[in-house]
Amino acid sequence: MCGIVGYIGRREAAPLLLNGLKRLEYRGYDSAGIAVLNGDMQVFKRKGSVGNLEEMLNVSGTVMLGATAGIAHTRWATHGDPSDRNAHPHMNVTGDIALIHNGIVENYSTLKQDLISQGYVFNSDTDSEVLVHLIDRIWKSDPSLELEAAVRQALRHVEGAYGICVVSSREPDKIVVARKGSPLVIGIGNNEFFIASDAAPIVEHTNKVVYLSDGEMAVITRDNYTVKTIENVEQEKRVTELDFSLEKIEKGGYEHFMLKEIFEQPEVMRDVMRGRVRIDEGRVQLGGIEDYLDRLKQAKRVVICACGTSWHAGLIGEYLIEEFARIPVEVDYASEFRYRNPIVSSDDVVIVISQSGETADTLAALRLAKEKGAMVMGICNVVGSTIARETLCGMYTHAGPEVGVASTKAFTAQVIVLFMLAMALSKGRTISHDEIRLNLRELAEVPDKVSRILEQNDAIKVIANEFKDAKNALYLGRGFNFPVALEGALKLKEISYIHAEGYPAAEMKHGPIALIDEDMPVFFIATRDNTYTKILSNIEEVRSRKGRVIAIASEGDREVSRLAEHVIYIPQASGPVMPLLTVVPFQLLAYHIATLRGCNVDRPRNLAKSVTVE
Ligand code: M6R
Repeated sequence: MCGIVGYIGRREAAPLLLNGLKRLEYRGYDSAGIAVLNGDMQVFKRKGSVGNLEEMLNVSGTVMLGATAGIAHTRWATHGDPSDRNAHPHMNVTGDIALIHNGIVENYSTLKQDLISQGYVFNSDTDSEVLVHLIDRIWKSDPSLELEAAVRQALRHVEGAYGICVVSSREPDKIVVARKGSPLVIGIGNNEFFIASDAAPIVEHTNKVVYLSDGEMAVITRDNYTVKTIENVEQEKRVTELDFSLEKIEKGGYEHFMLKEIFEQPEVMRDVMRGRVRIDEGRVQLGGIEDYLDRLKQAKRVVICACGTSWHAGLIGEYLIEEFARIPVEVDYASEFRYRNPIVSSDDVVIVISQSGETADTLAALRLAKEKGAMVMGICNVVGSTIARETLCGMYTHAGPEVGVASTKAFTAQVIVLFMLAMALSKGRTISHDEIRLNLRELAEVPDKVSRILEQNDAIKVIANEFKDAKNALYLGRGFNFPVALEGALKLKEISYIHAEGYPAAEMKHGPIALIDEDMPVFFIATRDNTYTKILSNIEEVRSRKGRVIAIASEGDREVSRLAEHVIYIPQASGPVMPLLTVVPFQLLAYHIATLRGCNVDRPRNLAKSVTVE
């Protein structure tokens, strides 16, 4: 999620590093920092854009001149607000080691307590800072070690994901890097090397790169690099030649950010669950609400407020919380809630959901709920956003920056958070330990199942091509999949400008059925659950009026293919996790229909990523 850049060679490092950070800036980071080695270690960091950091460096004059090695970072906050102090690099107490990190250290709190008990003082709220103190502790306990060995030993204590770069003024002619879960690329120049979290900052300097694999470390000097495993076994690495344009690299090789973000979902889903889903223990660990869980469980009612896609996630949340925790839930459009004099009291818990954390209506709903005495909890993607700050407690979705205006990975991340919340609220009350384990296992299997759905991208594009000239479309689903029908319709309309509506399938006969003719595509979610046979009847109703049926069905189903013109098969899963699967074909269909119509999917007309006005 964070951006990493490193340089070691014979040129001035600071301008190269800043330029590299700018190449990563398209992802929308919240703070930046740099460390260079020119005799001493010099570290500068700043909240905000890379421009802010650059301004600071200009003000600081020529302090960085002469440095030909260094590391730099753009941060997407996960632990601790965006601020100067939480920006990377982080340093050890004596200021001779600097470290940047991309990923999440899952056991940081145990490591931190341990280090504090040994006298270490922390200067940030990040999980990353433990890494530098850990290296420091190991190095101090055995000064005969090299930096590389100290890093290696430190990493043995770390659980979670990391891409790290470490420099030290004690060994100023090297950069030590390591990777587990978070990408790292080494660019090979002429007597110089570049390091980055993706190829974007490297490609203007060299097209020769080495991709580190998980569990590998590299030591990079001005003349050479060696790659070993974290267990110290030397590795032969293949040098890859990049043949991408810079723009393509920023989008990870995808045509659009939206497509990239759709494809990122399996990984994002794992990140959302990382360290939180404990299947064997039959529980979820939700740090952000732990202290408030008892109060949450005692709520007489939960009210969920949000807008757009986040509101659809809220509807799924309603089904999940009522199904498992048996607490009554109401879901309101934040824009309606704020003006309708809602009945809310201190017995209620209000959950606001927002990717950006800045949506004006959601923020107003939050403030009103607080005024009325409700406990307000947030589910946000952007750490330190206004909504995250103003809620009493909450959970981050950890989906990473979402650049495409149409929300995709943020939605599935929100649903996973709501699923985990439903489990936390049920534990010890409404469902057994074994049921929780079963549900968590189902949830943990979702990322792999989503990957299997994504493999059908080409086939889905073929279907999209058939419907690209539609004027209208109907999306129908039931139960947990009803909100997915709404989300499918929203995705299509916002990026392709085709009029689309979502309905609970049974509502069709109360009105929308009048719209059906041979030009109307009707997208059904017809997976095997307790409403399956009812959905089949709804499909028959559409067919007999000559509507064109495209269905999402469970693998192995034979009935649906008899009725539908096109079927997209998805892996079977339990009803409560199904929305995480059924939404994916709809995202892809909307994406392909829109691109085939020549629409700008990443920046659809009239829409903003973050709606900060009423
Ligand atoms: O940042 P938020 O989640 O609060 O944004 C809410 C809506 O504006 C947002 O979901 C919008 O509907 C998206 N364009 C949907 O793709």
